[in-house]
Amino acid sequence: MFNSELMKKLSDCFGPSGREKMIRELIIDEIKDYADEITIDPLGNLIARKKGDGKKILFSAHMDQIGLMVTHVDEKGFLRFANVGGLNAKELPGLRMVFADGHEGVICCEELKENEKLTTSKLFLDVASTDKEFIKKNFRIGDMCVFKSDYYETDDCVICKAADDRVGCYILIEAIKNHPSTDNDVYYVFSVQEEVGCRGAKTAGYSIDPDIAVAVDVTATGDTPDGIKMDVKLGGGAAIKLKDNSLITHPLVKDLLTDLAEKNKIKYQYEILEFGGTDAGPIHTSREGVPSGVISIPTRNLHTSGEIFNKSDVEECVKLLIAAAGE
Ligand code: CO
Ligand code: ZN
Repeated sequence: MFNSELMKKLSDCFGPSGREKMIRELIIDEIKDYADEITIDPLGNLIARKKGDGKKILFSAHMDQIGLMVTHVDEKGFLRFANVGGLNAKELPGLRMVFADGHEGVICCEELKENEKLTTSKLFLDVASTDKEFIKKNFRIGDMCVFKSDYYETDDCVICKAADDRVGCYILIEAIKNHPSTDNDVYYVFSVQEEVGCRGAKTAGYSIDPDIAVAVDVTATGDTPDGIKMDVKLGGGAAIKLKDNSLITHPLVKDLLTDLAEKNKIKYQYEILEFGGTDAGPIHTSREGVPSGVISIPTRNLHTSGEIFNKSDVEECVKLLIAAAGE
């Protein structure tokens, strides 16, 4: 059964890249009774281990979400900002944002001249106050904010923010809670700073030095009217990645995941993403190289405040990850 309460908690928790403390604490609280060992590395990666003498396996899902960082506060109290992660300026006007301390703002746009392009430099945040003391006290450059939007579910799907990659964190949490009996030495990594270039995965891959690695992250779909030509759809099951811009899945891992899906009657589909990358990118080129792959969750509207995924796809991903932990 899909655990809506856990998914909502993960989605609602504040944690843009480089500011993962709150989401890390939430996840520790969730898994502390299930891991044999929990460590936090110097960059902030959360590493939960299920000990064994066998094969060393690394699973990775990133904790961070995309957001904005304040770059300037003007005399009237309007804030200018820069992206933290891949955001499209065109999709921002009108959106509500929330800071770590709960303060909010709405993204507004300067009037554009004819044919002028909408860029982030034309946007500003109105934090709903004319009180200069309040602004000065509560907003400084370097502060970060994230989308504010409500979690919503239908019978089969979820709309929420930061499904990228809190749904991946959800899958790792469910897998560690249902970890199979095995000799494998399994490291569940909740990584930092994926959205700004998989920086956490780079150090975690190096320090763990695994025999095999699987990242768990969202991927785009080709089943909407927006015209991406892609062979992945909501409800099609766990997506086994074959390629993206950071990785060509190692044949060993592709075959392993495919065989496990077939053997355990897990619904799956193959995925080729023609843009983007995941934690598996830096991990597979770590040290002498690590055979790596990705289990992807088909997700619409990536990097917006309303990402949409299918609950049964997530459950298939959980089953596949558990099977991989025991193989
Ligand atoms: Co992302
Ligand atoms: Zn992601």
